[in-house]
Amino acid sequence: MKILGIESSCDETAAAIIEDGQKVLSNVVVSQIDIHAEYGGVIPEIAARSHIEAINPVIEKALKDASETLDSIDAIAVTHTPGLVGSLLIGTLAARTLAITHNKPFYPTHHLKSHIYANWLSGYNPEFPLLAAVVSGGHTQIIYMERHDHFEIIGTTRDDAIGECFDKVAKILGLPYPGGPNIAKLAENGDANKYHLPIPQVGGLDFSFSGLKTAVLRAVQHEVGKDIHTPSTELKSLLTAQQKADFAASFQKTAVDILIKKLQKATELHPETKSILLAGGVSANELLRTELHKAFDKDFQVFVPDMKFSTDNGAMVASAAYYSIQAGEKPTDPYSLDISPRSIIC
Ligand code: KG4
Ligand code: ZN
Repeated sequence: MKILGIESSCDETAAAIIEDGQKVLSNVVVSQIDIHAEYGGVIPEIAARSHIEAINPVIEKALKDASETLDSIDAIAVTHTPGLVGSLLIGTLAARTLAITHNKPFYPTHHLKSHIYANWLSGYNPEFPLLAAVVSGGHTQIIYMERHDHFEIIGTTRDDAIGECFDKVAKILGLPYPGGPNIAKLAENGDANKYHLPIPQVGGLDFSFSGLKTAVLRAVQHEVGKDIHTPSTELKSLLTAQQKADFAASFQKTAVDILIKKLQKATELHPETKSILLAGGVSANELLRTELHKAFDKDFQVFVPDMKFSTDNGAMVASAAYYSIQAGEKPTDPYSLDISPRSIIC
């Protein structure tokens, strides 16, 4: 079964053709990172406008790269939740139109579910039950999956998402958007033990990342001898390159530690777990990948998505839709689909 997957929930316009959930026939991603970097973050109106320009050429290229046509594919899947309203509208409108005009079965897909299924795209077949750590710019969740297409949130953030925390700490240090990759790069030259940042004490499997961001800010203020009223624009100019690298490394280590500790707790609560998966943009983080393998390789199968499927793409959307279809999901009427900027995975 060949599925066209379309993704436009944030700042990537993407389309892909995937056969039977795993075989990547094409994967086209147009990123708006350069456009938003100028503003230090994603500007929703600009994101929506950029999606309008990119969506048709991206879908056409995905079909061409796969040597397919809209007639030869079997279904169309699209991200309809969660995400930026204007961004979601463009992808879903394009997908709905194609489904209607070409009479194709139509499957709206949850973005976080898609991130989890990025793991199947690299040819892996993780064994169930599994624990998936969904770590992205908007979400931080531990999800327990007993079988395909069955999601139970067992831990979630009470405030900021881990990716958001990377992005905010990057801003404090004066690094460009997106913060995650820039923090990781800078951390290569830093001493991760230089600054001691506290691990938040949150009950159960839940997370809190806003305190960590504030802890970095306070440590920076202390380091440069300024008080809490000093504007952050002034703070970053007072830090030396080495201090910035040490802060990046210390923060990254703490954020990774927090996640690994909670996952360890999750495996204690679910000793029947067979596999542990990473999903979402922060899964591109090398330290997180290494530490995850170190912590769990002995007792579990550990999976991290191929780098090109870590951040937003259409391939994971098609893969997630395929496994939903296998689990019995029926097509949705493209005329009646609505987007939903916020929603939990279910
Ligand atoms: O999944 P994603 O592409 O979009 C959302 O669904 O949110 O994730 C984007 C997030 C951003 O916060 C970005 O800073 C983070 O993923 N990210 C990273 C790395 N690459 C991307 N965080 C840490 N290390 C990285 N190498
Ligand atoms: Zn995402």
